[in-house]
Amino acid sequence: MADSSPDVAENTVESGDENRRGFTTRLLALVCGGIAGAIPFLSGLVVILDPLRRKASGKGFLRVATLDSVPDDGIARYFPVVTDRTDAWNRYLDEPIGAVFLLREPGSTELQCLNVKCPHAGCNVDFIIPSKTFHCPCHDSNFEASGARINPESCPSPRDLDTLVVDQERLKDGEVWVDFKNFLTATSDKIENQ
Ligand code: FES
Repeated sequence: MADSSPDVAENTVESGDENRRGFTTRLLALVCGGIAGAIPFLSGLVVILDPLRRKASGKGFLRVATLDSVPDDGIARYFPVVTDRTDAWNRYLDEPIGAVFLLREPGSTELQCLNVKCPHAGCNVDFIIPSKTFHCPCHDSNFEASGARINPESCPSPRDLDTLVVDQERLKDGEVWVDFKNFLTATSDKIENQ
């Protein structure tokens, strides 16, 4: 009947306590080890995913030309717009993102800037030197040198050509910087294409 003796009962209780202490110690070690391992893992994860938090560049004022390259003769000049672009993990230099026409009327210091995209369906318009007008070859939209539609009732384009803002401060130094944007096509409202 050794099992029912007080000594044995006491030993059993102590053994149970030791088991619980051992379990708690192992659990604590496991938790601490997990935390210690998670810190470098999370730090690495932040470094890897960090580029995703950065916004792609390529918006805002971009240098397009010098003022000298746009004589004041009422003839529109075509200039491609390029910028460096950064996506999640890569940086691309001088990526083309569109183009503009720059124009100065004779004797005028004012510089006009138009996006080359036709608001109808996005084809590039041409500048016709003899008539000093813009023409879209896709569906025959015609625009004045100012970008206004000629005969809006019969013009397929739902709005005038899209004007863009030129940085006037830099223009004083002979530099043409443009707040370049593309806009949605087939809509009468000028809505930026994000
Ligand atoms: S895209 Fe220019 S008229 Fe249609």
